[in-house]
Amino acid sequence: MYMKLLVTGGLGFIGSNFCRYMLAKYPNCELTNIDKIGIGANPANLLDLENDDRYTFIKGDICNPLLLNKVVNQVDAIVNIAAETHVDRSIVDPNTFLQNNTIGTFTLLEAIRRHNHKVKLVQVSTDEVYGQALEGSFTENAPPNPSNPYSASKAAGDMFVLAYYKTYGIKASITRCTNNFGPYQLPEKLIPKIIIRALKNLPIPIYGKGTNIRDWIYVQDHCAAIATILEKGIPGEIYNISAGNEEQNIEIANKILKLLRKPENLITFVEDRPGHDLRYSLDSTKIQSQTGWKPKFSFNESLELTVKWYVENEHWWKPFATESILHPTPWKLSGSR
Ligand SMILES: NC(=O)c1ccc[n+]([C@@H]2O[C@H](COP(=O)([O-])OP(=O)(O)OC[C@H]3O[C@@H](n4cnc5c(N)ncnc54)[C@H](O)[C@@H]3O)[C@@H](O)[C@H]2O)c1
Repeated sequence: MYMKLLVTGGLGFIGSNFCRYMLAKYPNCELTNIDKIGIGANPANLLDLENDDRYTFIKGDICNPLLLNKVVNQVDAIVNIAAETHVDRSIVDPNTFLQNNTIGTFTLLEAIRRHNHKVKLVQVSTDEVYGQALEGSFTENAPPNPSNPYSASKAAGDMFVLAYYKTYGIKASITRCTNNFGPYQLPEKLIPKIIIRALKNLPIPIYGKGTNIRDWIYVQDHCAAIATILEKGIPGEIYNISAGNEEQNIEIANKILKLLRKPENLITFVEDRPGHDLRYSLDSTKIQSQTGWKPKFSFNESLELTVKWYVENEHWWKPFATESILHPTPWKLSGSR
């Protein structure tokens, strides 16, 4: 296993869970985390690692070549998790997504090409690059077909990764995962937003008719899959990651309200988001058959764990629970926050 590891975006939801996962699982791992402390970040996410000698934090931007040039040759593997991630915000402010997700990935690839050609890279991408799956499930052979500026910026980053593998022989693999949920997810995302608004007895905004389907995975299972690809992934290959938990948004809202013992009539249907994909679904046979990774957490149990975590950690989410973060239709807010 790679022991000198650079993680980008490690103060965000998946990044912080991943840093903690790696340091708990691999005692000899030395991990450097570069995060610009953008919207998704919270330094409190990794307070527990502050006194761990194996962990180094650098406040910095992956769009900064001078910083990356210095850091990439001090490690033997990189997991690129940093990104702007909220679809609704990408509709209001697409340029930020182009900068961080596409130019950021490109800048990292350039630093690798020039300063550490041998480093292993795992590019953490998303099922959203395939666009909506009206029927069946996408395999890795499906072409990118993004529907919004977020997924377009991620797909463009993926294309640069594949091109740098083919042109320069960079040892990069791409993971594409379905919707994550779990502790430390910013309240702007569906599941924490429903939990927090329900705890505050506020109406739960559900876009359109609530029939949009996402395929959910507990964040711990995603972290284990990224670690597996770091170890066993073949350069130039894409790996879908999914746990087979397809749920309509309205079903998710109902389950959360039931767990919190809140009335169903908190649900209010609001105008649908433009370009809202109806269904995402991935076939993850490849990672399962080629590496042995399998999801371990059942959807209902991990949803219960997640609800419990938000109930017990109000001090964590309260500073983020602003009106704009919890807004019912954020894509209608003008400009970026
Ligand atoms: N959340 C999901 O359901 C999901 C599903 C599949 C894939 N992904 C991918 O996983 C990654 C992480 O998602 P998340 O939900 O944890 O996001 P998040 O918004 O919680 O965290 C993103 C982190 O990246 C940092 N960041 C952004 N731009 C940066 C830059 N230019 N330089 C340095 N740091 C920067 C932010 O400060 C933040 O800490 C993203 O690449 C996303 O596309 C997310």
